[in-house]
Amino acid sequence: MQRLYIQEVVTRDGFQAESNFIPTEDKVQLLNRLSRAGYAKIEVTSFTSPKAIPMLADAEEVMSKIERVPGVEYTVLIPNLKGAERALRVGVDEFNLVMSVSETHNQSNLRMTRADSVTALGDVIRLAHDAKVAVNVSLSTSFGCPMSGMTPLSELMHWIDHFANEGVRGISICDTTGMANPQHVKEVCEQAQSKYPAMEWTLHFHNTRGMGLANALAAVEVGINRFDSSLGGLGGCPYAPGATGNVCTEELVHMFDLMGYNTNINLDLLLECSAQLRDLVGRALPSQLLLAGKVDRIYETVCQS
Ligand code: COA
Ligand code: ZN
Repeated sequence: MQRLYIQEVVTRDGFQAESNFIPTEDKVQLLNRLSRAGYAKIEVTSFTSPKAIPMLADAEEVMSKIERVPGVEYTVLIPNLKGAERALRVGVDEFNLVMSVSETHNQSNLRMTRADSVTALGDVIRLAHDAKVAVNVSLSTSFGCPMSGMTPLSELMHWIDHFANEGVRGISICDTTGMANPQHVKEVCEQAQSKYPAMEWTLHFHNTRGMGLANALAAVEVGINRFDSSLGGLGGCPYAPGATGNVCTEELVHMFDLMGYNTNINLDLLLECSAQLRDLVGRALPSQLLLAGKVDRIYETVCQS
């Protein structure tokens, strides 16, 4: 059975887009349950400016309070050196650096040009290497940007080349607002993997236009084995117009399990966590699996009266 590595992002990508602050204790409790579900990696929070992302202003407290289960990597989003220094003080397994392939999105999300991001992230990479912390770079708007249109593959490859030369362990190709289609995904993944076969590649899809699962399947078909996804399908970038949730973890795992892949995830526990999340945010989640149940769910016979 081919192993697939599932990386949960709900408490970062999911919670950053919520309008109400989720209490720190609730975040910690959810993370502690998720830690026992079999994930390869969990993106716990982000060390961004609390003015930019007030929902994650408790990053230090969350990171310090969670139980760290052996075998799970705990990563955090880092936009600049200040964020990296904050994360180092509480201890993390990985820095997930972020920048956008689109100049427009980089400026609205990070308030700097791509050139300035690259300089700032270069300093963060050196700090991480000195501190022996692994580095992943998430390239937002890798397929397209809601403000500047589709991303040329050559432009994405330019930034991939840059960070590969900086010696990062992994790169996440992020479809921030659901612009990719399965054919496009295959082209991008084939080119990236053939140029850098030793890189730890992650695909990060949003289901904004309903193509999230199809895109993930297309990526697997060309050899990708690592995915970001969000419990309940929650998520979205507050600085990308029209952004909606990530590909839903329980739906992704359900599909891959049925197809015979080994995701290592306890799907029943995930569904319990997803119900807990629905209660926490106080509204229905995008997850269709949470509504319908797994394919082996047997309903009562419906009789006409
Ligand atoms: N953590 C905490 N505070 C930070 C910070 C960080 N990582 N980076 C900057 N700040 C603080 C500065 O200390 C300064 O504080 P002050 O006003 O009290 O002096 C203030 O924020 C402004 O600093 P500046 O360097 O001018 O940053 P900025 O306002 O241009 O914001 C970012 C730049 C990158 C920090 C901000 O845009 C950000 O956090 N973006 C994240 C967006 C995000 O996470 N999007 C979703 C994920 S893709
Ligand atoms: Zn995202």
